Amino acid sequence: MAARGALPSPLMAAVVLVMAAAAAGAIPVEDSAPENIQPLSTLNLAAAQVAMDSASAIHASPDVLGKDGEDSAWVTVNFTTPSPSSGHWIGLFSPADFSSGIGSTKVAGQDDALGGLPVAPIKYKFGNLEPDFLRTGSGNTSFLVINQRYDYAFGLFSGGKDNPKLVAVSNKISFANPKAPVFPRISQGKEWNQMAVTWTSGYNIDEAYPFVEWRMKGEETSKRTPAGTLTFKHGHLCGNPARGQGYRDPGFIHTAFLKDLWPNREYSYQIGHELQDGTVAWGKSAIFRASPFPGQASLQRVVVFGDIGLGAKDGSSELEGFQPGAQVTTDQLIKDLPNYDAVFHIGDLSYSNGFLAQWDQFTPQIEPIASKVPYMVGSGNHERTYMDTGGFYNGNDSHGECGVPAETYFYVPAPAHRGKFWYAADYGMFRFCVADTEHDWRPGTEQHAFLDSCFAAADRKHQPWLVFLAHRPLGYSSNDFYQQEGSFSEPMGRTLQPLWQKHRVDIAIYGHVHNYERTCPVYENTCTVKGNDSAQSSYSGALGGTIHVVAGTAGAKLRTYAGGAWPQWSVARNQSFGYVKLTASDHSNMRFEFIHSDDGAVHDAFNITRDYRDVMACAVDSCAPHTLAN
Ligand SMILES: *[C@@H]1O[C@H](CO)[C@@H](O)[C@H](O)[C@H]1NC(C)=O
Ligand SMILES: *[C@@H]1O[C@H](CO)[C@@H](O)[C@H](O)[C@H]1NC(C)=O
Ligand SMILES: *[C@@H]1O[C@H](CO)[C@@H](O)[C@H](O)[C@H]1NC(C)=O
Ligand SMILES: *[C@@H]1O[C@H](CO)[C@@H](O)[C@H](O)[C@H]1NC(C)=O
Ligand SMILES: *[C@@H]1O[C@H](CO)[C@@H](O)[C@H](O)[C@H]1NC(C)=O
Ligand SMILES: *[C@@H]1O[C@H](CO)[C@@H](O)[C@H](O)[C@H]1NC(C)=O
Repeated sequence: MAARGALPSPLMAAVVLVMAAAAAGAIPVEDSAPENIQPLSTLNLAAAQVAMDSASAIHASPDVLGKDGEDSAWVTVNFTTPSPSSGHWIGLFSPADFSSGIGSTKVAGQDDALGGLPVAPIKYKFGNLEPDFLRTGSGNTSFLVINQRYDYAFGLFSGGKDNPKLVAVSNKISFANPKAPVFPRISQGKEWNQMAVTWTSGYNIDEAYPFVEWRMKGEETSKRTPAGTLTFKHGHLCGNPARGQGYRDPGFIHTAFLKDLWPNREYSYQIGHELQDGTVAWGKSAIFRASPFPGQASLQRVVVFGDIGLGAKDGSSELEGFQPGAQVTTDQLIKDLPNYDAVFHIGDLSYSNGFLAQWDQFTPQIEPIASKVPYMVGSGNHERTYMDTGGFYNGNDSHGECGVPAETYFYVPAPAHRGKFWYAADYGMFRFCVADTEHDWRPGTEQHAFLDSCFAAADRKHQPWLVFLAHRPLGYSSNDFYQQEGSFSEPMGRTLQPLWQKHRVDIAIYGHVHNYERTCPVYENTCTVKGNDSAQSSYSGALGGTIHVVAGTAGAKLRTYAGGAWPQWSVARNQSFGYVKLTASDHSNMRFEFIHSDDGAVHDAFNITRDYRDVMACAVDSCAPHTLAN
């Protein structure tokens, strides 16, 4: 049971850490681990040359995609070359006239473009993935192409990744309407009864008016709500490759706020643009269920995970090695859709790493989920961190993006603006406080004040389940880097511990580390209570501390744990792809599950059973002062 009274003062530890770091500015960090290298960055585009060879050819079909309004299509590509080698590869480029820029040293309006290919391909594949290519010199493969505005062409290269030589260019292909509105994604607005609908198109506001048409299920009449439009340019980005060869025009990103929703009611909606002649270019329609009233009891199920990346349905871009679990997790989440109500993706979304075309690839991947349930995102190092741009860490992990694509492609209800990526979200009996670990969270900062007030705003008799979410593990993780550091958490992470304790935060969930781990309810390294069995699968009464969970398990390559004895707070580990599901059935019962992506089975779980008085109960360092009045 709890070892009460013998704990070191958390405040002393916090003060020492804060002082040590205060003068340092952003925290220097090692560059990304090798498994975080975006494969597109391994193509030496600066060395690319044109070496057109009339005996080589490449052809793509069909020429026109999406004739029936589809926003993605399979394209068959056949290619032939007289002296096939393992260094032959095929790249998908857009716009289609990519080859004219090879070898030019400047792109208009852009200072930092290099020689060679001015833009990176959207995707690539090696020719010898086709079984007979090395023997026959011919191959036939297929690429999944999404509507990403502009036209497309494929290039056949020899010379491998190091010395790419363009030997043939295909015919151009394009979507019937390259500007069509695509990939709707919803998220809760600043109020529980608002839903933000966000999508991408090629229509600027002077060309067509963006809107969402929507109605409550069962109602006859629908209404139209106008959307706002955002985009970004080179000048918004912070460095290469995002400003250079990885740059791609993001199109226009629209968001409309559907307001005054009735709790738990179903709504249908459709995105569209009213053209100047009065006709409408329609996008997809979908159905969502509005969020419950804060504090209201109904069955409420929320999925949480971090670090997914791009799936590879067409086997392109060596994504199987980069993010081996992304597709299987996405498929399982789609299958599981009837069994959850909202998603929190706590950072490391697409791993574009400065190759901006990858953001568009990510939105169709999650659309089957994100168009139907609120898809709430957090900011990770791969979204935001870039040296000398005001972040907490001084690395290169966003490769020049410095948060701009993530903050534009996704709406989050940030109280200030999306560059300060922290926010609150109520979902019935749950309250979520989402932190931004790429910005300073320590006492005295704007974010710290926000988190304090976010936790304090939970009325625990109606919202008993208080959850803290963040990308980097600020609490507890047996990842080897943290063990070597001696902290078992992100440097200076546990400066939030007084807040978690004061506000009796139940669960803290993190991504960043690509494995699964769960702690006991813990305060200052000490378990405050034990579950009732060896698996610690059931907690009842007061927790007395916070349960910390690492779940960066959605897709990026898995990591091992530190060797040696398990710290006493580490009660469950699992090095598998999966996601967390929290299920609140009423104000006294919550279930936690870690679900494997491959089979949908539950591989770790616990229940919390407790009443309001248990939430209020005194715990170490979290007793409200008693006065004579009470
Ligand atoms: C690709 O296939 C088409 C027919 O589908 C054919 O006309 C063309 O010659 C082929 N091209 C190559 C490079 O194999
Ligand atoms: C290439 O593959 C497509 C689809 O798999 C098939 O329809 C087509 O006949 C193939 N073409 C050749 C030249 O093998
Ligand atoms: C950041 O990484 C990219 C590769 O993605 C590289 O081209 C760039 O030089 C790096 N920037 C710095 C300042 O190290
Ligand atoms: C733990 O508690 C649960 C219900 O709260 C019960 O079903 C289970 O049998 C208990 N296990 C042990 C080992 O006491
Ligand atoms: C994950 O948990 C399951 C169920 O407890 C177990 O069978 C499996 O071996 C674990 N896998 C790993 C890699 O830890
Ligand atoms: C945990 O909660 C779930 C859902 O409420 C319930 O089905 C299960 O029996 C509970 N398990 C224990 C051990 O209490």
